[in-house]
Amino acid sequence: MWPAAILLALAAAAPASAAMVKDGSTCIVTPLSTTPAAVAARSIGAVAPTERDLDPADSPDGDSALWAAQDPRPLGRYPRAEPGSGRAAPVVARRVDDEDPVVAGPVPRQNRVDDTPQILSAFSQCGKNGVIILREGTYYIRQVMDTTSLSNVSIEIYGTLVWSADNLSYWRQKSFSVTYAGRQTAWRIGGRDIAMRGFGKAVFDGNGQAWIDLARGQGNLDGRPISLTVWQGTNVFIDGITWRMAQFWHTFIAHSQNVTMTNLDMNTFSTSGQSSVNTDGTNTWNSKDITISNWTVKCGDDCIAVKGNSSNVHISNVVCRESGAMTVGSVGSNSNQPDYVENVVFENITAIHSSNAAWIKTYPGRGYVRNITFRNIRFEDVNQPIYVTSCIYSYQNCDSSRLAITDVRWENITGTSRYNVAAGIHCSSAAPCDGFHFSGIDIKPKNGGTAKVLCSNIKNQASSGLTCTGPCPGSHPQQLSGNV
Ligand SMILES: *[C@@H]1O[C@H](CO)[C@@H](O)[C@H](O)[C@H]1NC(C)=O
Ligand SMILES: *[C@@H]1O[C@H](CO)[C@@H](O)[C@H](O)[C@H]1NC(C)=O
Ligand SMILES: *[C@@H]1O[C@H](CO)[C@@H](O)[C@H](O)[C@H]1NC(C)=O
Ligand SMILES: *[C@@H]1O[C@H](CO)[C@@H](O)[C@H](O)[C@H]1NC(C)=O
Ligand SMILES: *[C@@H]1O[C@H](CO)[C@@H](O)[C@H](O)[C@H]1NC(C)=O
Ligand SMILES: *[C@@H]1O[C@H](CO)[C@@H](O)[C@H](O)[C@H]1NC(C)=O
Ligand SMILES: *[C@@H]1O[C@H](CO)[C@@H](O)[C@H](O)[C@H]1NC(C)=O
Ligand SMILES: *[C@@H]1O[C@H](CO)[C@@H](O)[C@H](O)[C@H]1NC(C)=O
Repeated sequence: MWPAAILLALAAAAPASAAMVKDGSTCIVTPLSTTPAAVAARSIGAVAPTERDLDPADSPDGDSALWAAQDPRPLGRYPRAEPGSGRAAPVVARRVDDEDPVVAGPVPRQNRVDDTPQILSAFSQCGKNGVIILREGTYYIRQVMDTTSLSNVSIEIYGTLVWSADNLSYWRQKSFSVTYAGRQTAWRIGGRDIAMRGFGKAVFDGNGQAWIDLARGQGNLDGRPISLTVWQGTNVFIDGITWRMAQFWHTFIAHSQNVTMTNLDMNTFSTSGQSSVNTDGTNTWNSKDITISNWTVKCGDDCIAVKGNSSNVHISNVVCRESGAMTVGSVGSNSNQPDYVENVVFENITAIHSSNAAWIKTYPGRGYVRNITFRNIRFEDVNQPIYVTSCIYSYQNCDSSRLAITDVRWENITGTSRYNVAAGIHCSSAAPCDGFHFSGIDIKPKNGGTAKVLCSNIKNQASSGLTCTGPCPGSHPQQLSGNV
């Protein structure tokens, strides 16, 4: 039994990288919090809302309902290690042993455990022709990580990484730009021949509830960081990682080629009154040759979104809850820059209680979306399963868009719609949709009756296999609030 005061002194004195050991080309990292020195320091997840360094301008009334327990239940249908895998970081003080609970008095910020330096040290010493192992336990991440010049590295993660939430201003100021739409990220990985494996044991906990409550429904709060970005990566393999309460989008794939991401489990969903908007599973952008397979995602926004300049993207075996499921877009947001998306397959997808299921959203911009397949999409209680728009969000200038959407197949699309609309498709009259093909479409309103199919400006409508029951105006919204 260690008196708390001694432990605190040790924690302050311990060199940051004490737990990283290099053995040949292998760097092994052990969480500082499992060393005696750190036991006295509280979990950073336990920092009281009043202690968080929130920017008062963003959180005018210092809402004391900020902290709410997250949902720790693993949702995955894929075999995963129990029980550590899906577990949230502890939000109570750790105990040294059964008789000796540590008194969780306030720990000065500078004494709180930070595992970032030793992790970054492992990346710099073993990130080329090496192996990086993060052993089991909880790692406290208090700093941004930029690990973008990796080559031939195997990253093996067995522990839980918890991103701090006691200084959100820090993340907003220091997170790295990913250029897209002014967004930022807390961790960039890039380089060549990178494998990052979590074995169903790695958990990335972004303390997302704090971000959701700070953003208060504002979609793109400046500086709110994407959890993990694959940035200028070639031959990247990411497998077996569980996310709980990501800060913003769970992942982003940008300026990358040949990226495979499999067996991922993501769950970020608000338990306060605030919405979990922009907690997308992933977005691809300026990237090609992407494979996404075996994901389970519960989030408050798009499950998988294929954005501008993405090609050869294959997505399969994904279960999405509460999300936007499978989407191409948004693309064409910058009228000065064309956006090109082609050769995308979404197959064997399940969507539960989502906004849409198989859809395409563009701004009235330039470029094209072509050769897209949605196949074997099954869903329950989806607001508007099939949706195409040329003027997402504004619903203005819909017919001036020159961003053509062509050669799109919807095959074997079955399930229940929330209201009496199976499909709403509005293409721009300046660049009508063409080469649309529908087969095996069986969509029934969950409360009975028949579903409407609304469409406008599909050039090959007669041969598309879809019987339209009425026109779809540009103003037709992405989400309905009742029968139309
Ligand atoms: C997807 O999950 C299934 C079932 O667990 C497994 O058999 C298969 O190997 C996984 N596929 C990939 C690409 O990891
Ligand atoms: C890749 O790194 C491993 C060590 O992890 C090394 O054994 C192997 O030789 C490296 N491959 C190349 C092509 O350098
Ligand atoms: C929060 O982070 C900012 C930016 O790094 C820093 O200037 C500030 O001192 C931090 N606040 C606290 C209380 O640590
Ligand atoms: C793509 O990346 C994988 C690793 O995920 C690698 O095994 C494969 O060789 C790469 N393909 C090409 C064409 O380089
Ligand atoms: C997409 O690629 C084209 C051609 O390479 C380029 O001109 C355009 O700027 C890119 N668009 C975006 C949004 O990056
Ligand atoms: C359409 O995309 C699929 C899947 O990526 C690809 O196999 C096929 O070659 C593409 N077709 C054309 C005409 O590019
Ligand atoms: C998708 O499901 C079909 C039908 O069950 C199966 O034949 C096909 O192999 C699956 N595709 C993938 C990529 O898992
Ligand atoms: C249609 O999709 C379902 C999954 O939603 C799959 O089980 C079934 O095999 C598919 N049918 C065909 C003909 O591929």
